[in-house]
Amino acid sequence: MLPQKLAHRAKTKKMGISLVLAGLLSLCCLSLCQDCNTELLENVDFPGADITNLSSPDANHCQLLCTQHPSCLFFTFIRADWTADDRNFFCYIKSTASGQPSERAPLQGVTSGFSLKPCSPNARPCLSDVYQNVDFFGADYRALFTADYEECQRTCTQEPTCQFFTFVDGDSAAEKFRYKCHLKFSYTAPRIQTVQRTAGVISGFSQNIQISQFFEPACQGQLLINTNIPGNDIENLPAASPGHCLALCSVHPLCTFFSYVSNDFRCFLKNNLNELVIQTQQGVTSGIPARFCQLDNSWLKEAHEGVDFQGSDIRNEPMDNADTCQRTCTADPNCQFYTFTTNNFAFQDFRLRCFLKRAITMPAPPKITKQQNVVSGFSLRSCL
Ligand SMILES: *[C@@H]1O[C@H](CO)[C@@H](O)[C@H](O)[C@H]1NC(C)=O
Repeated sequence: MLPQKLAHRAKTKKMGISLVLAGLLSLCCLSLCQDCNTELLENVDFPGADITNLSSPDANHCQLLCTQHPSCLFFTFIRADWTADDRNFFCYIKSTASGQPSERAPLQGVTSGFSLKPCSPNARPCLSDVYQNVDFFGADYRALFTADYEECQRTCTQEPTCQFFTFVDGDSAAEKFRYKCHLKFSYTAPRIQTVQRTAGVISGFSQNIQISQFFEPACQGQLLINTNIPGNDIENLPAASPGHCLALCSVHPLCTFFSYVSNDFRCFLKNNLNELVIQTQQGVTSGIPARFCQLDNSWLKEAHEGVDFQGSDIRNEPMDNADTCQRTCTADPNCQFYTFTTNNFAFQDFRLRCFLKRAITMPAPPKITKQQNVVSGFSLRSCL
């Protein structure tokens, strides 16, 4: 193995870009060839090799975040009992070229483990644990008063767009907010970091993505061609098509309608519960979200020529055509979307490759802190 590796290195040394490619290839093999390793190592740190950090309430959730993060291979989670500083609930997302942590160091208050990508993971894991004295901070869309946290959790489970909650119990020092149930949201439809025009590439989606958890009735939503709904923006994010924008609006509890600008692939989610004012505008498609139904998925079937879904790569491999790339993505439970580079792609060394991609679509609180007399948890919809 070693002589082969050296020979490979010698051959590619001449061209910088090939060296990068070789690195990508070895990474790709590793994520494919790696064994399913579910063990959690308590009080063990995998130092360094950080890609990013995310918030997570426990090591199991952190492991699932690592599994859904495109390039995470292993992680270290800082538990609630960590006392050295206030980084409790940080989930460090990590990767190395070898696929293994370079070091395993004993460290009190952390738990480390590996991505479950090789284990054919469930896209919608059941998150049944509740967390006492833990606040899932932010991402609120609505609040109400409930008798106990169980009723708060039931309400969240009943609302299709609720992903997690925080309940303030009857002993809280904040008297006015006792029994308050905060319903919270994160995206369950895949977001793409950057959508841009690039010659010689074709992009599209896995045919296996499931956006809503309703199987019937089938529905279309409503698309209004060459129509803008000005103002009332709550968020704007990249999207591949009006159908993708419709899906993002449909999973967002505050989105009452949207406008999609085709020229720069921007999806404007809007909120106005009182009126919907339209105006004619070329190149803009507006629409009304679909609720409580199985959203029409014809937008998932479209292949977008000359459009790059940049970033979020799991791995890439050589391939003859875009159809095979789409089928490869569909067959891989970790892949949600792809970009294929044709013979006309500007960078010769990267032609005829299939880049498999994904985003985190499981419930993910943006910030988690310790807070006395609150209880947090997740919707139980995936557990039913
Ligand atoms: C967490 O990640 C962000 C970037 O994603 C970085 O700016 C920040 O320093 C990190 N925080 C810690 C404590 O590692």
